[in-house]
Amino acid sequence: GAAELGPYRHYMQKEIFEQPRAIADTLEGVAGITPELFGDGAYKVFKEVNRVLILACGTSYYSGSTAKYWLESIAKIPTSVEIASEYRYRDSVPDPRTLVVTISQSGETADTLAALKHARALGMPHTLTICNVATSAMVRECKLAYITRAGVEVGVASTKAFTTQLAGLFLLTLALAQVRGHLSDVQEAAHLKAMRHLPAALQAVLALEPQVVAWAEAFARKENALFLGRGLHYPIALEGALKLKEISYIHAEAYPAGELKHGPLALVTSEMPVVTVAPNDALLEKLKSNLQEVRARGGQLYVFADADTRITNAEGLHVIRMPEHYGALSPILHVVPLQLLAYHTAVARGTDVDKPRNLAKSVTVE
Ligand code: G6P
Repeated sequence: GAAELGPYRHYMQKEIFEQPRAIADTLEGVAGITPELFGDGAYKVFKEVNRVLILACGTSYYSGSTAKYWLESIAKIPTSVEIASEYRYRDSVPDPRTLVVTISQSGETADTLAALKHARALGMPHTLTICNVATSAMVRECKLAYITRAGVEVGVASTKAFTTQLAGLFLLTLALAQVRGHLSDVQEAAHLKAMRHLPAALQAVLALEPQVVAWAEAFARKENALFLGRGLHYPIALEGALKLKEISYIHAEAYPAGELKHGPLALVTSEMPVVTVAPNDALLEKLKSNLQEVRARGGQLYVFADADTRITNAEGLHVIRMPEHYGALSPILHVVPLQLLAYHTAVARGTDVDKPRNLAKSVTVE
């Protein structure tokens, strides 16, 4: 009820602002990286596996898609990510030395549970879940688990569940890296330090809300939007587009920025806002030239740029500067202004933010 909402207008807004706490709770008690964070017997399983197969739906699929980049770059383990409802019905080639990872906020999504059972029936016994509900079917069905501690999420559009999943998946990446000999003590300490800084870093990003509100006014009048990202932030662009679709009913698509010239550039006009996730990473210079391609066609760019990227406001180029530059954990920070943009655009359009039409919080039937 209204009392629970406190100063917030909707559960979604409250849940966006709970993320510093949710991440702190999810990482509480993590004193160091060890496979046993995922349960008894995890060391033996992590030693045995030589690939990862991630199965999930919706927003959880995008946290898995982000984790693929971490798992391959940090833990050096081949990883594939599959939409659960596709995986369960297609012929695939099973490898018994696969770590099957399901990701689910509710732990009750029918397609994800069925995909897990399908993987097991194909002869892949090593199962692990990243899940927000300790008593769920998903946790009961998997041998190993990491329970995220986002708390109850009421808004249908997932926010704090997503960022806590990313925190859990980053821990999984580090634990696999350690077992596989790719994590020195020095690296472990640096990653842990960066993780402990997340709540404060998130707080600073949340303080950008008034700037995002100003952008939302312009978005509320549009019927289409394009989201761009590269590398590890491509799944974040996908998640940003999904949030906007779900609650504002604006048609949104996400593309890896390098793919613009192979199609979506044809859609760019002054009526098409192009939201860009621009972390200061190895792909920054390439991303900047992608932005030029959009500007040259009169597109309106809305860029979330890291503190040190030197991307600045200009004609057709609107910039919100992120307070820092976050390295490997950057997706956890960069998704937050996209959540806020979707939220405030939906509020400006007057939609039922917490209960968007046709959608359910958890889909327990096929
Ligand atoms: C529904 C929800 C989404 C969620 C998806 C997967 O579609 O509306 O927010 O991402 O289910 O749910 P899960 O509980 O498995 O993460």
